[in-house]
Amino acid sequence: MRYHSRLWVRPENLNANGTLFGGHLLSWIDEQVALYSIVQLGNERVVTKYMSEINFVSSAWQGDIIELGIFPVKFGRTSLTLRCNVRNMVTRESIITVDKIVMVSLDDQGRPLEHGYSDITYARDRIPHRMKPIPRPEPHVPERISAAHEPLHDLDG
Ligand SMILES: CC(C)(COP(=O)(O)OP(=O)(O)OC[C@H]1O[C@@H](n2cnc3c(N)ncnc32)[C@H](O)[C@@H]1OP(=O)(O)O)[C@@H](O)C(=O)NCCC(=O)NCCS
Repeated sequence: MRYHSRLWVRPENLNANGTLFGGHLLSWIDEQVALYSIVQLGNERVVTKYMSEINFVSSAWQGDIIELGIFPVKFGRTSLTLRCNVRNMVTRESIITVDKIVMVSLDDQGRPLEHGYSDITYARDRIPHRMKPIPRPEPHVPERISAAHEPLHDLDG
């Protein structure tokens, strides 16, 4: 497993117990795995489809430096399955493990897209040449609200 990025545990990352907040850690994992998948699948439109059991093995404290390791398990047709471990950089003690994360490559309509790769690259040869803006679908406005055009009122007003 290669350790790709490092994070310094700061006061704003802590929970009420004074240790690293699990939600912050998951957000960091999700972002790093997505960036890794973009490089591997040559497509910026990659989403998280599935995360297996998450095991918080030990805590991290303010001032700790932690590092994230990603291991590609399987290249599917449209997906990439990865394993992830976060550990203390100094002691190498494991903090969290996620055995299976499935990322899916999408086309510009948001449908699974065959990526055509079967092994990892250590180069930058698959990075998309130009990141395109992603069109957003029109928001769905319920009939009742759009017809009324009522002004919004303060909750206490
Ligand atoms: C990603 C998404 C387009 C996939 O749609 P889908 O109908 O499941 O598509 P498919 O059935 O073709 O599956 C696509 C790939 O995901 C894999 N997959 C689907 N469900 C899975 C599951 N529960 N566990 C593991 N892999 C799964 C399939 O095996 C397939 O991989 P392959 O082509 O490499 O064999 C759709 O589920 C989606 O948009 N989900 C929301 C994603 C998102 O917004 N994530 C951000 C976090 S909220």
